[in-house]
Amino acid sequence: MNVTVTGAAGQIGYALLFRIASGQLLGPTTPVNLTMLEIPEGLAAAEGTALELQDCAFPLLRAVTVTADPVRAFDGVNIALLVGSRPRAVGMERVGLLESNGRIFGPQGAALNAGAAADVRVLVVGNPANTNALVASAFAPDIPAARFTAMTRLDHNRGVAQLAAKLGVHVDQVRGLSVWGNHSALQYPDVNHATVGGIPVTDLVDEGWLVDEFIPRVAGRGYEIITARGASSAASAASAAIDHVHDWVNGTGDQWTSAAIVSDGSYGVPAGLFSSFPVRGVDGRWEIVQGLSINAFARARIDASVAELTEEREHVRALGLLP
Ligand code: NAI
Repeated sequence: MNVTVTGAAGQIGYALLFRIASGQLLGPTTPVNLTMLEIPEGLAAAEGTALELQDCAFPLLRAVTVTADPVRAFDGVNIALLVGSRPRAVGMERVGLLESNGRIFGPQGAALNAGAAADVRVLVVGNPANTNALVASAFAPDIPAARFTAMTRLDHNRGVAQLAAKLGVHVDQVRGLSVWGNHSALQYPDVNHATVGGIPVTDLVDEGWLVDEFIPRVAGRGYEIITARGASSAASAASAAIDHVHDWVNGTGDQWTSAAIVSDGSYGVPAGLFSSFPVRGVDGRWEIVQGLSINAFARARIDASVAELTEEREHVRALGLLP
């Protein structure tokens, strides 16, 4: 399998590449050709990481390529992990962030369209992830939009871990959590269908804790990590990216998870937006979990997050960043 990681010299890239090369992304029997895409300033560091990858003598790692050319990086790619992006500079407005990243993800979408394998799967990690996925997909008219996704798995995993900690159980007891909407402070981690040991979470915790602690803690966990660590989440983000692609390829069995995928209009999310939904991995595709009841509180939270996605789409359209 040809796997390409963009932003390979960044901190998520450093946490991600070794796990891919060791077989954790695609399983212990799938050889990997790894390509690292960086901007020219990042090439030397990426070359250094390539030397370390060589030194690991991973049995599954067949080739490592470092390049600053997106067309070369995406030629024949099966799995594209779009991590590299322009960080928000001090004083930069959200529109500025959307603009500088739209200028990265449009050309990368076009390069994917030009050369990716027919079965390509794209995961956008770089923020603003949902709208970057929308822009990349818009520039790849020959690739079905369902093959572009954005990462909300870190938010999902954070929610699972918080529930497990609160209830004093292991994470594997927590099922049925859903993250809706945008990967932003307005995301909605929803426990209305979640269970712990088969018991509804809503019977185990009070509403005050859910509204005042759980939701803000999950949505604000990125800031908590930056404050504690002095740097943004990297290993946990890389781990979530591994989980996302692993479950997309191998399926989720009798569980579900959360991922931002193109909306088909389910749950009132306008078709064409890249929104997080509860999803199942089935036969190598993501399927939105259907038929969940949505109460008034959940409806308001989902609508607020989706309104932000609509606004971001309008911004990139107004900036001329959509074809
Ligand atoms: P970083 O700043 O350490 O690394 C980013 C790398 O991307 C740099 O090496 C840079 O040279 C490279 N880059 C920039 N433009 C590029 C381009 N056009 N092509 C290829 N490479 C390019 O950042 P870090 O910590 O690795 O985070 C990467 C992104 O992931 C950020 O946007 C961050 O906000 C996002 N993120 C998303 C999460 C999610 O849950 N969706 C979670 C955590 C981070």
